[in-house]
Amino acid sequence: MVATQQSPLATLRQTSNTRVDATLAALFDSRPAVAPRLEAAMRHGLLVGGKRLRPLLVYMAGKALGADAKALDAPAAAIELIHAYSLIHDDLPAMDDDDLRRGQPTVHKAFDEASAILAGDALQALAFEVLASTAHPRLSHLIHTLASASGRDGMVAGQALDLDAVGGHPDVDALAHMHAHKTGALIVAAVRLGGLVAVAEDDPRLNALTRYARAIGLAFQIHDDILDVTGDTVTLGKTSGADAARAKPTYPSLLGLEGAQRKAQSLIDEAIAALAPLGEGAAPLADLAHYMIERDH
Ligand code: IPE
Ligand code: IPE
Ligand code: MG
Ligand code: MG
Ligand code: MG
Repeated sequence: MVATQQSPLATLRQTSNTRVDATLAALFDSRPAVAPRLEAAMRHGLLVGGKRLRPLLVYMAGKALGADAKALDAPAAAIELIHAYSLIHDDLPAMDDDDLRRGQPTVHKAFDEASAILAGDALQALAFEVLASTAHPRLSHLIHTLASASGRDGMVAGQALDLDAVGGHPDVDALAHMHAHKTGALIVAAVRLGGLVAVAEDDPRLNALTRYARAIGLAFQIHDDILDVTGDTVTLGKTSGADAARAKPTYPSLLGLEGAQRKAQSLIDEAIAALAPLGEGAAPLADLAHYMIERDH
């Protein structure tokens, strides 16, 4: 048998995915389902597929500042729960009206709209349940970080701006503002949650991590917009060309494909520069920044 050499990032991804998947599965396996159809819809939206990049950011940011992996399990699971809820609602007919997600029928297709709405609601509540169940000296900061990134100052606000922008022609600053909320906020929260497990709020290294996360968060959504143009449905696991079909303003629609790619690359350079105060321990975060815009799905 020939042993294949994995990149350090691939190994970290594997370890992170194993940990978070075990934490998430245990939430369901540890108690009986009250409502079986709701339970099945939640499992479908959460446990089937997905890159688990936000949990990876929690583990990597936490590790860069010296946190113990075990203390990162709850925040890593919580951010993925919020993300999965956001995707289920994002796909609903009232929002992006998508049929395919993570290579499977979307939750409202596999079940029904009411189940998809309820599954999202329950996943959101479960995120806070998981986080609140841990013992940590900065627990209220952790909960506040996740709550403010999720709601009216974060992801949900960005989703509202996204829907308002359909058919419109926002300028590049307005688009960056929308992307920073709908996608950037949870990516910044993932990194800050990891950091906050390790160090106090006023530790300057958290500022460096936040600057890194803002840059990769915007680059991540720009690359998502690019993949919608250049990717194929099977590889993406979601329908390609959906943004143009729905008249969504995106970076490629505003700057062209090459302009969008240049912008994403310059953000990755910015993100890596922001890591300088963290020294060698941040090298895996630099690798992950590159991956954010090199991924094919
Ligand atoms: C998709 O996020 C939605 C965006 C914020 C662009 P991901 O590309 O991380 O989706 P999964 O979790 O891997 O399915
Ligand atoms: C999704 O943005 C952002 C959130 C789910 C919060 P998109 O609508 O571009 O994500 P995809 O392309 O459907 O995954
Ligand atoms: Mg959307
Ligand atoms: Mg969408
Ligand atoms: Mg998209």
